[in-house]
Amino acid sequence: MSGFHGLFIPGPTNMPFSVRQAMDVPLEDQRAPDFPAFTLPLFRDLKKVFRTEHGQVFVFPSSGTGGWEAAITNTLSPGDKVLLPVFGQFSHLWADLCRRHGLVVDAIDVGWGEGVPLDICEQKLKADRAHEIKAVLVCHNETATGVTSDVAGVRRALQSPRHPALLMVDGVSSIASIDFRMDEWGVDLAVSGSQKGFMLPTGLAMVAVSPKALEAAKTAKCPRCFFDFADMIRTNKDGYFPYTPATTLLRGLRASLDMLLAEGLDNVFARHHRLAEGARLGVAAWGLSLCAKAPKWHSDTVTAICVPKGFNSDDVVKVAYHRYRMSLGVGLSKVAGRVFRVGHIGNVNEIMILQALAGCEMALRDVGIPVTLGSGVAAAQEHFCQTAPSVELSKVA
Ligand SMILES: Cc1ncc(COP(=O)(O)O)c(C=O)c1O
Repeated sequence: MSGFHGLFIPGPTNMPFSVRQAMDVPLEDQRAPDFPAFTLPLFRDLKKVFRTEHGQVFVFPSSGTGGWEAAITNTLSPGDKVLLPVFGQFSHLWADLCRRHGLVVDAIDVGWGEGVPLDICEQKLKADRAHEIKAVLVCHNETATGVTSDVAGVRRALQSPRHPALLMVDGVSSIASIDFRMDEWGVDLAVSGSQKGFMLPTGLAMVAVSPKALEAAKTAKCPRCFFDFADMIRTNKDGYFPYTPATTLLRGLRASLDMLLAEGLDNVFARHHRLAEGARLGVAAWGLSLCAKAPKWHSDTVTAICVPKGFNSDDVVKVAYHRYRMSLGVGLSKVAGRVFRVGHIGNVNEIMILQALAGCEMALRDVGIPVTLGSGVAAAQEHFCQTAPSVELSKVA
């Protein structure tokens, strides 16, 4: 049991030491007079990650699912219609949550492996002259299939002609890892969670809310209490919370934001893209296919890989776990047994991707899937060698 267990699931992700250390502090007085000196800059910096100046970001002690619930219950009323493309387990679960809150879901069922169908969204919105659709809900990065959708394209669909529906985005496995621009793309509610790109333990849901969505919250009738934006607005303005905040996680969030902002968000996105390309080249070298059906859907945070007919992807995951001490993501729901997933989100680098690919190769071979050992690793290495920033040996120690 020596060494580290390889954690290559798409969340929870690998925590940087600085984040862990930042949380190794005594519990503190959440009503202390100097607590706002910590929280107010935290709220301000969180907005930078969501790329919003006009919106407000609320931090709930919850997982991402609570963020979904906060977004819809604060801005919609039972009976309201929402448009929701379903193309994986997480978009499916968000639709289910909406139904349980009494919303009417117009689900656009898309094959798993594809993303938001912009043409169908546009047609539906155009046809909705009475503006019955109150919100369009989009899963930016479908973690179950490794598919990223075009959120800016959905905003364009909402503008031809102009439709007043709110645009809500699930950014649980994209925000802080894949390019996301709340203000520029006209997103009204953006949901994220702490255990993915933010590199923290599970336990915080961040919900960014536009002025238009805050206005909608004044008349929305869905029952809410724990997730009520109004209570957050009242207390957050002075740096406090309506109930006991998860102070240790907030300390970790400070360290995480410091890391993300020091690297620079664009560099963070570029790093994820480069590493994901390495992973995808590795899969291509094995001769296996991705669940994502086209390059435009490729996710830079998770790669979902199809196993050939006659094999069970769960076996690959089990062998990887028990023989090689590494966790891969299983195929969920409709793609169970057919797909396994490699998470490359958050605190990751080249060597970790090579480690993941090497482990996958051994597990694939063990279950009888013919891959040449080292082939995927070599393809990724080649890519990393060609794309790594150059080092001037005379200038480094
Ligand atoms: C895209 C996406 N949305 C929502 C969720 C649900 O978040 P949580 O499990 O933190 O409640 C997940 C979890 O993996 C996810 O990947």
